[in-house]
Amino acid sequence: MNSLEQPIFLGIESSCDDLGMALVQNGEVLAESLSSSMDEHSKFGGVIPEIASRAHLEALDAVYDDLIKKTQSKFPSFSLRDVAAIGVTANPGLIGCLSVGANFAKGLSFGSDKPLYALNHVHGHILAASLSHPLPKDFLALIVSGGHSSLFIVRNFADQSTQISFEEIGSTLDDAAGEAFDKVGRLLGLKYPAGPEIDRFAQSGEVKINFPLPLTEPKFMKEHRYDFSFSGLKTAAVRELEKLSLSDDLLKSNRLKDEGITLEDFCASFAKSVASVLTLKTMWASDEFNLGTIVIGGGFSANSQLRNCLKSACEDKGKELIVPEIKYCTDNGSMIANLTEKMFQQSFPDSILDFSVRSI
Ligand code: KG4
Ligand code: ZN
Repeated sequence: MNSLEQPIFLGIESSCDDLGMALVQNGEVLAESLSSSMDEHSKFGGVIPEIASRAHLEALDAVYDDLIKKTQSKFPSFSLRDVAAIGVTANPGLIGCLSVGANFAKGLSFGSDKPLYALNHVHGHILAASLSHPLPKDFLALIVSGGHSSLFIVRNFADQSTQISFEEIGSTLDDAAGEAFDKVGRLLGLKYPAGPEIDRFAQSGEVKINFPLPLTEPKFMKEHRYDFSFSGLKTAAVRELEKLSLSDDLLKSNRLKDEGITLEDFCASFAKSVASVLTLKTMWASDEFNLGTIVIGGGFSANSQLRNCLKSACEDKGKELIVPEIKYCTDNGSMIANLTEKMFQQSFPDSILDFSVRSI
């Protein structure tokens, strides 16, 4: 049962094109507010940092006021005084965007004398699934988004007496999974971000093209066993489209000439390759490090081909798969408020007020 008597945590996320703020108590979202500048970037085919940071600056007051109003509809006397600690994304992300959120959080912290945590965005994604599902003490996390494809060993989540640790055992050498989807989607004439669109088309297609499974060959096992690389796959997709003599308006014709391959088939084949690589390496790591639970997060973790592929691999191997709610896959304030609560509960030291934001 939520009440103002128990600690409440404020989280602020502004690392890319979304500005999110939320309040969390006992791993449960009390209220959340989000402003996305996505539509402003769509016409450019990608996020324009200057547009995103300006949009955040313009939306700050409205998002914060909306959050307070939503909380007061549950607890009429609620104010910032009832918050135990404030957390904000400090890295990685777009510097201008991060600065807007960080400076706002610093102002709130200074004005209210509340502890402030400068937090890692990817760690927020890792724990996002805990907003709807209990997590075990130790687990393997696969974080896939527009900027990241990484595998982490997470230890001491469900343990108040020690501190959680996040050990990255592999990451992308070039494009992230979401980025590869967005870039291939652009070639197909799809609107940015193309990830959800490719997912949708792929659901009704058949796998007819054998795309490669990058970095899975034996020669890469020593140095890059848990790393990912999707830029070669993107090039393979371009070549395939050329070979199929892609018509200028694929979306209208909905058919790749001469081969009987539809847009849906192309998307299903491409999505299958990305999902297979992510699943293969995740299962290898869960075996090698003896971790029976796999947690996924990040915008791409909403992808149905990845979810299906991981689900059946986990069923085969008797492993548990924990997925976040779709709305907590992409960037949001709740995952940062949730991480703030974890830092506070496990007695992590709070940050100095003049901390710097970082792009990596
Ligand atoms: O986590 P996120 O909101 O931002 C980053 O931290 O990057 O992830 C956004 C990314 C975009 O590349 C988007 O295309 C991708 O997640 N995405 C998807 C799906 N939903 C979002 N990719 C494939 N299938 C989806 N259903
Ligand atoms: Zn993200």
